[in-house]
Amino acid sequence: MQVNGERFLKDLHDLRVFGASGVGKGVVRPAYSPADIAAREWLVGRMRDAGLDVRFDPVGNLWGLAKGRSLLIGSHSDSQPEGGWLDGALGVVMGLELARAANEAGGPAISVVSFQDEEGRFGVTTGSAIWSGSLSLDHADTLTDSAGTSFADARAAMAHLAGEFVDPARFSGFVECHIEQGPWLDDAGQSIGVVTDIVGIRDMRITMEGEQNHAGTTPMHLRRDAFQALSAFNTALNDRLRNVVTPQSVWTIGHVNLHPGAHSIVPGKVVFSMQWRDGDAVRLKRMEDVIRDTACEVADTMGMEVSFGEMLGLEPVAMDRHLHKAIAQAAQDLVPEGWREMQSGALHDATNVASLMPAAMMFVPSINGISHAFSEDTNEADLLCGLNVLAAAVPDLAKS
Ligand code: GLV
Ligand code: MN
Ligand code: MN
Ligand code: MN
Repeated sequence: MQVNGERFLKDLHDLRVFGASGVGKGVVRPAYSPADIAAREWLVGRMRDAGLDVRFDPVGNLWGLAKGRSLLIGSHSDSQPEGGWLDGALGVVMGLELARAANEAGGPAISVVSFQDEEGRFGVTTGSAIWSGSLSLDHADTLTDSAGTSFADARAAMAHLAGEFVDPARFSGFVECHIEQGPWLDDAGQSIGVVTDIVGIRDMRITMEGEQNHAGTTPMHLRRDAFQALSAFNTALNDRLRNVVTPQSVWTIGHVNLHPGAHSIVPGKVVFSMQWRDGDAVRLKRMEDVIRDTACEVADTMGMEVSFGEMLGLEPVAMDRHLHKAIAQAAQDLVPEGWREMQSGALHDATNVASLMPAAMMFVPSINGISHAFSEDTNEADLLCGLNVLAAAVPDLAKS
């Protein structure tokens, strides 16, 4: 089987046009946006040209299916609200090139997937979570994005394309290539990361309510100011979490909605996202306890009401040993000094798929470790190295 690097790079650049941000190679292609749907429709054509039978499922996951039992390769083609051109797209386009090359060579059978809403506009890796059964469709339909749009309403934009869910039994295993989104490969001058395991995540919204009032006339000691409460919570939390975490643990307040949001009003309410990740499920629970306790204590001291939204999450998972070994062997053969084993601190659809079938992941470097930003990029030589390593591993990956 002979992959074509030029054709692969051209597809990657062609996909980047959908939702191009105009800043560097960045993209704005959140799940179910017109740009996301247009990108998926473009992928339909590329998948058909690769000899695949194409189908959308009820949540907008896009499938390019080979005949019979096959190896599944892919990732996602939605992006963060400000995203890079490779996050997700790389794995989908690499799957496409490998399926196309396999089709030209008369085997092995490779199917391709682009999962929907991996970036969590509505939840955590929503499309693959629903497909794998860890999130029910009924429950997902009740989830809302930060603007209050429901998942049910968002996916209605793709209702005209929707077919049946795909039976996971038709796949022997799943492989996802992704950019590292961290600094380690780039720092070491290495081209390939073979993923050992993916960390777990917890994510919820927290609301603190005080009292909206006049910013000129309300004395400081009488205020129940939502921003001051959030600020105190954040400071106390950073302090207390340090007692339970390791250097690999991370936590982020990435979205804040301060009400009503005016220069001359003491804000009465804040709704913010609280997300934390770690490779150990027990530590994730300890972090949760600290977060809840700290929020309650700060709210108490500052005269605020606190409430916690639904907590979503994914457990830490290990990658399949056989598939992992196949990729590691191909990397060892092609770039003996240029690869390493590593944990994934980012989330991936592979976490969900691993509950259905053997799953593995491979990383290529992110320049300066930047991702979830318009400036995300990877050297062409590393993109091609990734393609060649997976192509070399395919005969072994497809065995089963
Ligand atoms: C998703 O891309 C994540 O890891 O946040
Ligand atoms: Mn991704
Ligand atoms: Mn991402
Ligand atoms: Mn991700």
